[in-house]
Amino acid sequence: MTTRDTINFFSSKIFFFICLFSLCVFTISPNDLIALDTDLGETLFKNHCAGCHINGNNIIRRSKNLKISSLKNNGINDPETIANIARQGIGIMDGYKDQLGEDGDLIVANWIWEQAQKAWVQE
Ligand code: HEC
Repeated sequence: MTTRDTINFFSSKIFFFICLFSLCVFTISPNDLIALDTDLGETLFKNHCAGCHINGNNIIRRSKNLKISSLKNNGINDPETIANIARQGIGIMDGYKDQLGEDGDLIVANWIWEQAQKAWVQE
């Protein structure tokens, strides 16, 4: 490569796009993706669960709510179990597999699990 080639490369569009691309890769951190999931989890909950489980309660069967003590009492000890219930339903509750979309079950379950750890108190 001659000096001129080198200069041409650095002033080329390709070089510009490589820089732009690296900038994107380095500025989108895993935390941003987690934040996106958190927002999505909250939205899914509001759209599909809050009707009966507003603030983690249960307006139909009060004892089967989404607070940590109730979950544990009923043998629900991780987000995966909640995701299962979200998908397939439990007892008199319907499943919401079709409404939640791909991965929506786990995303909303993780959000619920996180709220349960914080006793459903919003920051
Ligand atoms: C139409 C009302 C309704 C909606 C909407 C609803 N649930 Fe439920 N949910 C119930 C009822 C009623 C129960 C108790 C079922 C039973 O044991 O017979 C329940 C129980 C649960 C439980 C078990 C709680 C415990 O402590 O045992 C979980 C977890 C749960 N729901 C998650 C969800 C999620 C996630 C969504 C949204 C995708 C959702 N529910 C939407 C009515 C609803």
